[in-house]
Amino acid sequence: MGYSNLLVLVFLSWVLFIPGAHQLQNSQTNVLLQLRNYLEYPSSLEIWENYSGDLCNLSSSPQLTITCEDNSVTELKIKGDKLANVSGFNGYAVSNQTLSESFSMDSFVTTLTKLTSLRCLSLVSLGIWGPLPDKIHRLSSLASLDLSSNFLFGSIPPKIARMVRLQTLVLDGNFFNDTIPDWLDSLSNLSVLCLKRNRFKGQFPSSICKIRTLTDITLFHNELSGKLPDLSSLTNLHVLDLRENHLDSELPAMPKGLVTALLSKNSFSGKIPEQIGQLRQLRHLDLSFNLLSGMPPSVLFSLPEISYLNLASNKLSGSLPNHLSCGGELGFVDISTNKLIGELPSCLGAISDKRVVKFGGNCLSIDMPNQHQDSYCKEANLRGKQFSGIRLGELVGVIGGAVLVMVLLAFGVCILCRRYRSQETVEQHALPKVVQDNSPAGVSAEFLANARYISQAAKLGTQVALVYRLFSLEELKEATNNFDQSTLIGEGFIGKLYKGRLENGTDVAIRSLAFLNKNSIRNLKLHLDLLSKLRHPHLVALLGHCIDVGVQDDSCASKVFLIYEYVPNGNFRTHLSENSLEKALKWSDRLANSNWCCQGCALST
Ligand SMILES: *[C@@H]1O[C@H](CO)[C@@H](O)[C@H](O)[C@H]1NC(C)=O
Ligand SMILES: *[C@@H]1O[C@H](CO)[C@@H](O)[C@H](O)[C@H]1NC(C)=O
Ligand SMILES: *[C@@H]1O[C@H](CO)[C@@H](O)[C@H](O)[C@H]1NC(C)=O
Ligand SMILES: *[C@@H]1O[C@H](CO)[C@@H](O)[C@H](O)[C@H]1NC(C)=O
Ligand SMILES: *[C@@H]1O[C@H](CO)[C@@H](O)[C@H](O)[C@H]1NC(C)=O
Ligand SMILES: *[C@@H]1O[C@H](CO)[C@@H](O)[C@H](O)[C@H]1NC(C)=O
Repeated sequence: MGYSNLLVLVFLSWVLFIPGAHQLQNSQTNVLLQLRNYLEYPSSLEIWENYSGDLCNLSSSPQLTITCEDNSVTELKIKGDKLANVSGFNGYAVSNQTLSESFSMDSFVTTLTKLTSLRCLSLVSLGIWGPLPDKIHRLSSLASLDLSSNFLFGSIPPKIARMVRLQTLVLDGNFFNDTIPDWLDSLSNLSVLCLKRNRFKGQFPSSICKIRTLTDITLFHNELSGKLPDLSSLTNLHVLDLRENHLDSELPAMPKGLVTALLSKNSFSGKIPEQIGQLRQLRHLDLSFNLLSGMPPSVLFSLPEISYLNLASNKLSGSLPNHLSCGGELGFVDISTNKLIGELPSCLGAISDKRVVKFGGNCLSIDMPNQHQDSYCKEANLRGKQFSGIRLGELVGVIGGAVLVMVLLAFGVCILCRRYRSQETVEQHALPKVVQDNSPAGVSAEFLANARYISQAAKLGTQVALVYRLFSLEELKEATNNFDQSTLIGEGFIGKLYKGRLENGTDVAIRSLAFLNKNSIRNLKLHLDLLSKLRHPHLVALLGHCIDVGVQDDSCASKVFLIYEYVPNGNFRTHLSENSLEKALKWSDRLANSNWCCQGCALST
């Protein structure tokens, strides 16, 4: 028995003190394995399970791409299957949707930032939840950051301003609920800014207009309100998507290179500026569902590249000139539900396979059932003029009745009120989270030996699949009644051993280690991951760990806790050398045990 025990110790010592021959690649591999642990083993990373080669050598797939240079990861793309499609997310973990409650965004990003050479990072639909920590900026080589379709909330952290290499920032489909920061112009190389499907509120930050490199701005489906500034300085902008917000100014001047402008479902008012007629590359213009008035500029229809023009559901009035010409590319026009009168221009009226035209809900003088009477549109036009304060006298003259004016005024007030949409207020709760480092660590052989107790489960031959995870300090405090003296079951030269009970009723042994310097922690981290995979009925399983971070920086961690499955009946040695006969193992059992041990080692190696 002594011999086999020694074997275990030799094996474990070897595990704990592997020389750092391929330091760089090993540590990077370690970080990747840790990230998998944090992400709770998503199916996209299943391929790592039985793969013993270099992770950089895996062929890339839509779910996973790893690219390396000089033994460092430069590109990491993981796509999961957890769609961020929860309407009631309020900042807490949601079962089957987000990662579990024990996930800590802060620790996750701490680990992530160890991939210091990363240039491209994409973590999509992985159920990641929490506020985005400031320390993400430590990935200073990053040119592309995509964290779409997760459960991030709060604000875009200010230190992102230091990531001057960023060219692409994509945070689509999260729950960001602060304002869009006004310092984005610090990202002087930014070309793609996609923040769609979040809850960003406040104004469109005017500093965005200073980022000349921008080609795409997508802020679709947020809660932005107020004025849209003059964007004409963004000479490289091709795509502007501001649909489904509450922007309520007039339309500003647009940059000349714009190809796609999607501004529907806001509260833009006033006339459509003639300046849009100068956008020679414009292909796709959607201004529908706003409060735009006046005559649409004829030139919109004849822009050389225009193929999609949607002006539906506004308050456009007047009559389009009959000689209006349509651009050669124009395939879809929607002018329905406005206040247009007169004839339908011939290029829109001609029945053609090439072009779809929608014009219902106006007052056009054509023989179609879905047009209103002229008077409907004229009244609306007059009302429109009244509200913009133009020619009130003329209005009175035309209507010729003060009583009617009063009625119209009242009606107008109603319409004005409707423009101020009530904004949703979402009740959300602040989320207290324990700061904890999640990097695996190694353990000295001595205390591992001390922590080994004969497991009841092992005796019964049962083996439960145990998942290694990270524990929070709060959790451990709760399990041990704040490390109460009564839960202390042993004390040695390397630390204390406590018995505790987790929330789910599992009994655990918690070993606390005090660390003296950074190096021992680093050493520990290198090997914990390996230890976490030792699973055998005859080995006490390490269930997880917790690093108590005294200060923000994990290099200053003050304490490490290792959580083992709890095995009653004292430690192994007492059963071999115990004086009291009933506790000591019989020789037949000892022989059987030594067999287990050897098998255990062999299997684990
Ligand atoms: C890994 O190998 C084990 C044993 O051969 C097998 O049961 C398991 O399904 C494999 N996992 C994957 C993801 O292929
Ligand atoms: C990875 O691939 C390269 C080139 O294909 C090869 O030289 C190297 O040995 C591979 N490394 C591993 C660990 O498989
Ligand atoms: C999101 O959930 C709603 C119902 O909760 C469902 O109708 C919709 O299809 C889902 N969207 C996606 C992209 O899964
Ligand atoms: C979560 O998913 C599992 C398996 O898909 C299912 O059995 C369980 O009922 C789900 N739980 C909830 C709360 O939806
Ligand atoms: C900005 O991007 C260009 C390429 O698009 C690159 O050559 C340049 O180095 C970048 N600048 C910074 C500060 O990263
Ligand atoms: C954002 O959402 C979180 C979580 O739901 C909430 O605690 C926080 O107060 C919200 N912040 C703002 C600015 O609304």
